[in-house]
Amino acid sequence: MDASVKIELLSEAAADALLDHSERVLGESGRDGVPIFHVYDEATPWTRDRARIVDRWARPLNRYADAPRPEAELGWTRTFGLWVDGEIRGATSLWGNTLRSAFHRVNLSLGVERAHHGLGYGTRLMEAAREWATSEGFEYIDLFVFEGNDPAIALYRKLGYVETGRAPDRWRIAGKRIGDLTFALPLRAKG
Ligand SMILES: CC(C)(COP(=O)(O)OP(=O)(O)OC[C@H]1O[C@@H](n2cnc3c(N)ncnc32)[C@H](O)[C@@H]1OP(=O)(O)O)[C@@H](O)C(=O)NCCC(=O)NCCS
Repeated sequence: MDASVKIELLSEAAADALLDHSERVLGESGRDGVPIFHVYDEATPWTRDRARIVDRWARPLNRYADAPRPEAELGWTRTFGLWVDGEIRGATSLWGNTLRSAFHRVNLSLGVERAHHGLGYGTRLMEAAREWATSEGFEYIDLFVFEGNDPAIALYRKLGYVETGRAPDRWRIAGKRIGDLTFALPLRAKG
């Protein structure tokens, strides 16, 4: 990867740069047909909620089924950002489950801005997420992807994710019926 490109676990100082990136990447969803993310509209607009992100980044992880579960630990998120020349152009977020019985699993979302596709950034972000989740003791990464999002599905399969479910007509977006697929990656500690 180019020396001017770096991936890092984001903290409060990067919140505005992440929101700028999120706005750009969400605006690209569905531009050529199939939506790739849930579409925000007038009824349910995307909001630039800086405080919410910063709060979720600060929450401790709830990982183990036998751990105490103070409310403050629910709703954690961690986000890796990919910086190119001082702007975030791609990001992957991981977040926990609220049910104690699913604390061994972590959820993932991913987006790279269109002008930066095909450069290996999606792969690098997914690898950073996998390394982090493994080192934190999680046992699976779960993700959801709209049917028809072939680039993302190809990426997940290439990285070893296994399809775990299919829900036809899961979403109704802009008059279209969208199916949803779930994928999971079992994690094994290195060494
Ligand atoms: C899916 C996405 C993250 C891929 O990011 P990227 O940085 O372009 O991916 P990479 O350059 O790391 O490509 C890695 C692999 O992804 C797959 N891939 C990427 N673009 C593809 C395309 N246009 N068609 C088919 N496969 C593609 C290939 O398997 C590729 O491996 P290869 O180069 O050996 O063929 C990117 O297209 C994206 O952000 N799309 C919009 C947001 C999105 O769909 N997020 C996922 C929602 S669940």
